[in-house]
Amino acid sequence: MCGIVGISSRTEFSSRVLLTRLKRLEYRGYDSYGFRLGATTFKSVGGIRVAAGGRGRLGIAHTRWATHGGVSERNAHPHLSCDGRIAVVHNGIIENHEELRRELARKGHRFAGETDSEVIAHLIEEGLRHGPMPRVLADLFRRLVGTFAVLVTVEGQEEMYAMKRDSPLVLGVGGGRTYVASDIYAFSDATDRAMFFENDEFAVIRADDYRFFDKRGKPVAKRAFRFSRERETRPRSGSGHHMLREIREEPEAVERLLFSLGHDQRKAFDALIGLIRRSRKVIFASCGTSYHASLLGSYFLHRAGVECQTLIASEFRHFADVDPDTLVIALSQSGETMDVIDALKYAAGKGGRIAALVNVPHSTVQRMSRLTLNILAGREICVASTKAFISQAVLLLMIARRFGFRVDATDIPDKIRAVLRRRAALKAIAVEIAQSRDLYIIGRGLTYPVARETALKIKETSYIHAEGMMGGELKHGTLALIEEGTPVISLINNSDPDIISNTREVEARGAKTFIITNNPALRREKAAISIATGNDGKFGILAAVAGQLIAYYAAASLGRPIDKPRNLAKSVTVK
Ligand code: AGP
Repeated sequence: MCGIVGISSRTEFSSRVLLTRLKRLEYRGYDSYGFRLGATTFKSVGGIRVAAGGRGRLGIAHTRWATHGGVSERNAHPHLSCDGRIAVVHNGIIENHEELRRELARKGHRFAGETDSEVIAHLIEEGLRHGPMPRVLADLFRRLVGTFAVLVTVEGQEEMYAMKRDSPLVLGVGGGRTYVASDIYAFSDATDRAMFFENDEFAVIRADDYRFFDKRGKPVAKRAFRFSRERETRPRSGSGHHMLREIREEPEAVERLLFSLGHDQRKAFDALIGLIRRSRKVIFASCGTSYHASLLGSYFLHRAGVECQTLIASEFRHFADVDPDTLVIALSQSGETMDVIDALKYAAGKGGRIAALVNVPHSTVQRMSRLTLNILAGREICVASTKAFISQAVLLLMIARRFGFRVDATDIPDKIRAVLRRRAALKAIAVEIAQSRDLYIIGRGLTYPVARETALKIKETSYIHAEGMMGGELKHGTLALIEEGTPVISLINNSDPDIISNTREVEARGAKTFIITNNPALRREKAAISIATGNDGKFGILAAVAGQLIAYYAAASLGRPIDKPRNLAKSVTVK
């Protein structure tokens, strides 16, 4: 996944302005970046440094997550035509780039790097020899195979050009400037008016004037919609890691969500409950952390008598039987995860109903869904998702509550605050497990999804091999790996005898156990963290907060980069 942004302005602006916008997209990719502003072209490897250098009224910028071609300055965007006049930034994948490259090379084009994106600059250069830009762009839709959101500037021209197929692209207007970006966060602090590109549309943009066209060059009428500026998206300020800051934001995020379900999202909430009731089958589709939240949701809903299934989005088509009576609920923080989008396309193709629980408003997943609830977690910058998981889980708990699951959710924010106050004890566990190479986290029922989520957080931030599993599965193989001193975190809900017996099983084989429980009787166990809450599902959410803190402190004690773990971008399946 990469991030792109362009600004066309009535007045001159500096690269600092452009890079500040780009910085807001850094979570989409961060191995290199670059921009073209006026006559200045800049490229660099590494994270975005917002520094001055160049001025102009038209600028495009790109933050990269390498897929085709290594991390290097020459592979960083913008890519230029042979004469250097055309600059292109691209998010997506051009599948037929090798064939196009060969064809362009035969015509004498020289390539500076190895990326798939570079062919776009040369195709445009070639096209402009034979016709004007709108015709060239219309032609590109015919020539390019793959996914793309592209911004183009041409030296000496006042227009910026933008085009899209299957990669997100949104245009914002306000204050004498037009912005085009991979997502609305790029400019959500500067304007509250935006419009989305649909597939196979392009736009010609000049300061605060913009015209949309379809792929044949026929004008397309569009109306801007208004969105609420920054209200839910501004991250907490201050220094330190985003991960810790975002964990600390969880109580307010949950308060915001609970409030909205009774107010501004009430109608949508009622509509979703109605949709679930009317559907013969309910299937969740999601990936990674969102998948673990869906699993927790399945647990809550089953307890409330609602039959449902949770599928990893990338496996959706292999395991789901979708028909017009099936409701597919996508869970996605970003709303841009390609596996989720593919699952929804598949479900839509089978006539299924689609709803979504997302964090990023107006995202692709939201726009593919008949009905959406926003989890309102606010902008999540750290690659390791934390507050989004908690908000997703709370929303699912609230849905289950409407079907009869008995829970008082009003005290969840305060209970999360109580867990945050236990940081010293959680840090002590973290420092101890950080010394190990392998680690197991066990749970059952309510705590099984939390065990998996905790393991994922530890893996991606600490690079320790962690396995989150059902306690019941230990005896079917994994027990063979438990030896003297193996750390095992056991998540014990209430007095569940089965998970208590799993804990004793691993202890009997020498495991060093750390217990996280809401069972007061276990409080006195060695290395136990007790969380005061009843047997009403909330322990799952609170244990997840404890797991997030353990993961954070383990990674911090190892000096890991935390906010940008190696090999991971925030929504990993979209370039
Ligand atoms: C978890 O910390 C990761 N960021 C990852 O597993 C993530 O949850 C997954 O890629 C799904 O992303 P989404 O919720 O934006 O669809």
